[in-house]
Amino acid sequence: MQKPVRIAPSILSADFATLGEEVRAITRAGADFIHIDVMDGHFVPNITIGPDVVKSLRKTSKKIFDVHLMISPVDPYIVSFAEAGADIITVHQEAGPNLHRTLQLIKSIGKKAGVSINPATPVSTIFEVLDIVDLVLVMSVNPGFGGQKFIPRSITKIKALREAIDTTGRNIDLEVDGGIDPVTAKNVIKAGADVLVAGSATFKGGKRRYAANIRRLRGTR
Ligand code: DX5
Ligand code: ZN
Repeated sequence: MQKPVRIAPSILSADFATLGEEVRAITRAGADFIHIDVMDGHFVPNITIGPDVVKSLRKTSKKIFDVHLMISPVDPYIVSFAEAGADIITVHQEAGPNLHRTLQLIKSIGKKAGVSINPATPVSTIFEVLDIVDLVLVMSVNPGFGGQKFIPRSITKIKALREAIDTTGRNIDLEVDGGIDPVTAKNVIKAGADVLVAGSATFKGGKRRYAANIRRLRGTR
């Protein structure tokens, strides 16, 4: 069942020089999740942050830390991110040969487990893990950078996953990441998404705009 829309600002678009302040600001502005993009320069062509930064940020917000791991291999780092304060740990279907084992590991240490698929990856590749995951993340851009254009084909994938998730009867969040603005937000919600990641659309205009930006994405203004 599609749940109320939650907004997950991606701190990739924040000012990294004052990251703690930025997380406090989006927390006050009404963010539901804090979306943290972890990149390794190998699985994706960019390098961002590691567990130590997550640990420091943990002191700045009580919101759900939604940690999106774009790294390969991923298994050796799961425990570190869990200990750093991640609440949801999302890994990529494409990141390794033993996806089910990775998800089992996340669950075994008491964290919520998410699985993500890249734009070129068919939805059917994650059907066999819907019985174990808590969140499915559809990438609507190729991972690596903020500020890219939404790939329209993602709508079809969201619809198919909405149906597959509802068939399981399980409580699984359906999250979309990449190119979300007030227009694409409306379309992905209509297709069945209930968690929207938004980097540039949240952080544009400076701190005074964050709350209004989040409200517009949620569709409440
Ligand atoms: C891309 C990241 C996204 C990104 C979204 O690889 O996973 O979370 O920061 O940025 P926008 O919302 O600007 O497309
Ligand atoms: Zn992300």
